[in-house]
Formats: sequence, structure tokens, C-alpha cells
Amino acid sequence: MKLLLLKYIHDKLEEDIFYPAVQTRVSEDGPDLVEVAIKEHKEMKRLISQLQTGGLAGTDYNKTVHQLMRGVQHHVREEEEEMRPQAEQQLSNSLEQLGMQMQQRKQELLAAMSTAAHAGQGTLAQGKTAADKDSAGSSTTIEQSIDVHVPVHVAYNQWTQFEEFPSFMEGVEQVTQLDDTHLRWKVNIGGKMKEWRAVITEQIPDQRIAWTNTTGARNAGVVTFHRLGDNHARIMLQIDYEPEGLVENVGDTLGVVSTRVRDDLERFKAFIESQGAATGAWRGTVKQART
Ligand SMILES: [Fe+2]
Repeated sequence: MKLLLLKYIHDKLEEDIFYPAVQTRVSEDGPDLVEVAIKEHKEMKRLISQLQTGGLAGTDYNKTVHQLMRGVQHHVREEEEEMRPQAEQQLSNSLEQLGMQMQQRKQELLAAMSTAAHAGQGTLAQGKTAADKDSAGSSTTIEQSIDVHVPVHVAYNQWTQFEEFPSFMEGVEQVTQLDDTHLRWKVNIGGKMKEWRAVITEQIPDQRIAWTNTTGARNAGVVTFHRLGDNHARIMLQIDYEPEGLVENVGDTLGVVSTRVRDDLERFKAFIESQGAATGAWRGTVKQART
């Protein structure tokens, strides 16, 4: 259900706002790229509805999922590597404005869905819940968890080594620990370098770490650690962020960030399990925000 909602918003934003601009103002390739992209939107929609009717069993279902995933990946690659660079070149002055229009349109769509949900329309109600949009409508919540085969304190200790995040987090170029509770992040998002500061608002050894940004667009999170056994722990991560501009909004509607976070956790797991021990630890407690 979540995929369908994300897909719906992605298609709507692009077909109503982004593609018409590319079609009319990106010379030569523009119209062709848009034609192909819209065809792909339709094909993915067909595959999703096939999956959702529940008529497919076993291998057919798996085949269709695989086909859909390949389609989405191909589509995103085309948009990122073909359409976006040309749009950036030829629409340069109005790109920021298009991004703002898309963000606004997205909020309208989410608001409309939320209204429909309150009116008790099943499908949209489910969609709204699944997408986890907050009441403000503009921020996105991502929740992912992973089980690791190390003691809970080892997983926790490694997580306190923020400066090592770039070794398993895609796009994170640098994290600088300014003091026990303040961090500076440098992250590459869709080719654009972003920088912000964050403060640890809560930290309880072997249980949880919560943070929020103090500069830049909203981005906050909490990670909790759960003991499953002597050598087995669950890490649960929740991130709230507010996508900015065209690239981030397109990525957001496709669930790109969610996938990236998932991959980051997989890499964290591989890292900590291969080490068997944390590369460092900070065992202090932070009880309230000091900004
Ligand atoms: Fe698209």
C-alpha cells in the first residue's frame, strides 16, 4: 500500500509539474525522455495493481515483484542520470521554483488524502497511515530495524562513534564531534553537499540515542537498542526529515531514502559483526536537550 501511495505522489508531481517543463523547455531530448518516463509510470502502475489484486501466486508473484523493482530502478536511474542533468542545465533558474511547486503540491495531495481518510475511505486511509506523514504534511518518517549478532553494548558502543558513520552511511562525507552532544554533518544528497549541526537530546547507554538538527532543514531521529540474547541485539532506527527541493522530493516519493537507510543498517551490521567489538565507546548519559 505504501508503494502505491508513494508511486501515486511521484507520478502526480512529475506529470503535473516537472515533465511539462522538461517537455517544453529541454531541447532535443526533452519530449522523448518524458514520453518514455510516462510509459514507465504506467507500466509500474500496472504491475503494482497486478500485485495488489492478489491473483498471482508463488513464482509469478515473485517474478512480478522483481520486474517492478527492476522497472523502478531503471526509471530512477533515467530520471537521475538523463533527465535531471539536462533539466539542471536548461531550466537552471526555474528549477528551485519547480521544486517548491512540487513540495506544495505534495502537501496538497497529502492533505486531500488525510481528509479522505477521515471521511472513512478505506484505501486512502490505509495509504495515509502507511506513509507515516505527520500532521504538518511536509516531513517524512522512516522506520527500519535490524538484528545484529553482537552483544547489545557492542552495537550501542559502535553507534556512539559518530565520526565513523561515513564508513557505512552512503553519502555521509564527514561527521565531526564538536563535543559530547554536538555534531556537524556533511552529507552529499543527490550530488549536492549539505551541512547541518545536530544536538544529542537524549542518550542512555545500551538503550537509546536521540538527536535533532539545530541548523538546516528538519532532520531528527532516535535509535533504540534491544537485547535479544547474550550475543544478539535489535537496532531500531527512526528518522524524521523534511525533503527540500526537486531532487529530494522526487527521491522521497520513490522511497529512495528509506532504501538507503536500510542499506546503511545492513552495512552497519556487516561492520560490527566482522569486528566483533566496537571501535570505541562513549558511555555518558544525556538526559535533556542542551542546544
Ligand atoms: Fe518518474
